[in-house]
Amino acid sequence: MTVHFIGAGPGAPDLITLRGRDLIAASPVCLYAGSLVPEGVLAHCPPGCRIVNTAPLSLEAIVEEIAAAHAEGKDVARLHSGDLSVWSAMGEQLRRLRALGIPYDVTPGVPSFAAAAATLGAELTLPGVAQSVVLTRTSGRASPMPEGESLAAFAATGAVLAIHLSVHVLGRVLAELLPHYGADCPVAVVWRASWPDERVVRATLGSLEAALGPELERTALILVGRSLGAEDFAESRLYAGDYDRRYRPVGTHPRFPEEA
Ligand SMILES: C[S@@+](CC[C@H](N)C(=O)[O-])C[C@H]1O[C@@H](n2cnc3c(N)ncnc32)[C@H](O)[C@@H]1O
Repeated sequence: MTVHFIGAGPGAPDLITLRGRDLIAASPVCLYAGSLVPEGVLAHCPPGCRIVNTAPLSLEAIVEEIAAAHAEGKDVARLHSGDLSVWSAMGEQLRRLRALGIPYDVTPGVPSFAAAAATLGAELTLPGVAQSVVLTRTSGRASPMPEGESLAAFAATGAVLAIHLSVHVLGRVLAELLPHYGADCPVAVVWRASWPDERVVRATLGSLEAALGPELERTALILVGRSLGAEDFAESRLYAGDYDRRYRPVGTHPRFPEEA
């Protein structure tokens, strides 16, 4: 018996890995975080599957469900939105399972920042403009930010920020970012990336608040950085015609002659 933690993707039911789909289809129990996991993914559950929405459950109740399946020798598909490596609450469940000696494995999913970037048609890391992406958030009621992880500290690096769980405090976010990026820095807010009701607002840090209405649905990502919408950037050296590399050796004395 194994508990399969599966990243269910950002919203569109077909944005799940083949491995994740097959594990769901092979598991007689499915626990899903109903607030964000698309119900369409549940179509992969086998007939007779015990399907439980864990949104209203406590951690104890979730672990009880898993322990009951373990006692019956039944595999569990445990679905969380996006990828499991960020803000999935997987860590605390794995710790409980380790204490109980219940086996588990982890299958990654498409994270929401990648889905939002896809919606924007954006490569976030453009040569000479930005080479780092920081996945972050602001502090919430349940999760204070560790000291040193302020938006201002990340903004000071000039990296692209993918700010989660924060659209409801947009004013505070903008106030922290403006001194570092400047009012003309591009920003985009993507609500429910890849869902049928996806919505996008592109603006600058200086114009974003005016571009948004007062009603801010919470499932949104704020992407900010100079690479958004940039046209003035260098081309990658990797594909330059004169760039000698293992898969495309060039010149009379290539650096990788064994493949010349
Ligand atoms: C609890 S976190 C889950 C993150 C998830 N594990 C991931 O890989 O993206 C929820 C936050 O992720 C972001 N988010 C999740 N799905 C999204 C989507 N489809 N579009 C935009 N933002 C999304 C929002 O900032 C939301 O408040």
